[in-house]
Amino acid sequence: MNLAACHFPLFVITFSALLATVPIANAQPAGTNYDESKVPKFTLPDPLILANGKPVTDAATWTSTRRPEILKLFQSHEYGKSPGRPANLRFETRSVDNSALEGKAVRKQISALLTGDPNGPRMEILIYLPKQANGPVPAFLGLNFSGNHSIHSDPGIRLSTRWMRPNAEAGIVNNQATEASRGSSSSRWPVEKILARGYGLATVYYGDIEPDFAEGWKMGIRSVYPSAKQDGDFAADDWGAIGAWAWGLSRVLDYFETDTRIDQNRIALLGHSRLGKTSLWAGAQDERFGIVISNNSGCGGAALNRRHFGETVQRINTSFPHWFCQNFKLYNENEDALPLDQHMLIALVAPRPVYVASAEEDQWADPRGEFLSALNADPVYRLLGKEGLGVGEMPRVNTPVGTTIGYHIRTGKHDVTDYDWDHYLSFADRHFERAK
Ligand code: GCU
Repeated sequence: MNLAACHFPLFVITFSALLATVPIANAQPAGTNYDESKVPKFTLPDPLILANGKPVTDAATWTSTRRPEILKLFQSHEYGKSPGRPANLRFETRSVDNSALEGKAVRKQISALLTGDPNGPRMEILIYLPKQANGPVPAFLGLNFSGNHSIHSDPGIRLSTRWMRPNAEAGIVNNQATEASRGSSSSRWPVEKILARGYGLATVYYGDIEPDFAEGWKMGIRSVYPSAKQDGDFAADDWGAIGAWAWGLSRVLDYFETDTRIDQNRIALLGHSRLGKTSLWAGAQDERFGIVISNNSGCGGAALNRRHFGETVQRINTSFPHWFCQNFKLYNENEDALPLDQHMLIALVAPRPVYVASAEEDQWADPRGEFLSALNADPVYRLLGKEGLGVGEMPRVNTPVGTTIGYHIRTGKHDVTDYDWDHYLSFADRHFERAK
């Protein structure tokens, strides 16, 4: 099968653009399975059986052998291999305001020059820190969909100048953000609440790392690596866009290591939807992330591939041919052949705390499949001496469960809400030992 990167016709780009801007219900093709009785019978690969068939019975074997084996499976078959930290990575402070948000916050804006070249690829990091802090603060980190300036109406946030998906309603015209887009996604980013709880918040526009369309790699970080220089003829296990976005998140951690106001050992990584898939992959690879949170991440995120419920591997690879490595396309309508499933991605976060959240009306993301991933990662947590999920049945809506693995399904649609944040903040309080 020829898995070389295909040049997808314009309608694919337009279709994927639509998926992110129209209500999800409109984006779901006819024939999607939403019937639990039509979920095929399947057997999940066991995260605690080594490639040589022997069981993993102690934490040391997990860490030295099984964890690296599983990581490699995800690199080879799903997200592709990513490079490490670039030798010349540099950070430049653009602005610091010690009295932002009516004196409640410190606002910092940092440019990460990803190859060290001021004319090369860069990403802009926006950071808010609580003004009253004794020492380094724990922080949440998450990529955003519509530019740093979309998370809050704060006029001090630099307006993104990067490529954006057109969305007149949200103030994006001719692929450019306008002043009208300031604060357009603020409902998903309760900045004041986060600060009041004693946390910092850092965010980056995901399009800074790579614009989200099939040919977007040409304008992003993947263009500077050798494989891409051969005009997008990516190797079958080269990183896709999710790999690139996840790589960018690790570069933010590189920055945190240089900032004494941020506690690099207490970073909670959060992502919604495609950026939830990205958070899980970033957190799986980079053990510096202290907590990993997947909000409605669905197919290619927390949801089990083998369930064939809502979005499928074939569907996601068709709508978003650039997200995963080329090898992932081998599993279109062929999920049973995958040597992994998404519970093993969650297991890669172990023993660090992980939170999986679903929404009742977000059937496209298969809430039950998201829960079952968390459940099937549980044995790995227990082997590592942690209480994992602590329940065997999917909880009722609005009833969070779990200890080191957190899970909830809330009422409502595909979104990040205050309800979600309240539980993420409490989860972080518990695990970062910030008893109230
Ligand atoms: C589409 C896509 C999902 C994705 C979502 C999003 O619905 O099919 O896989 O999670 O967009 O990122 O908003």
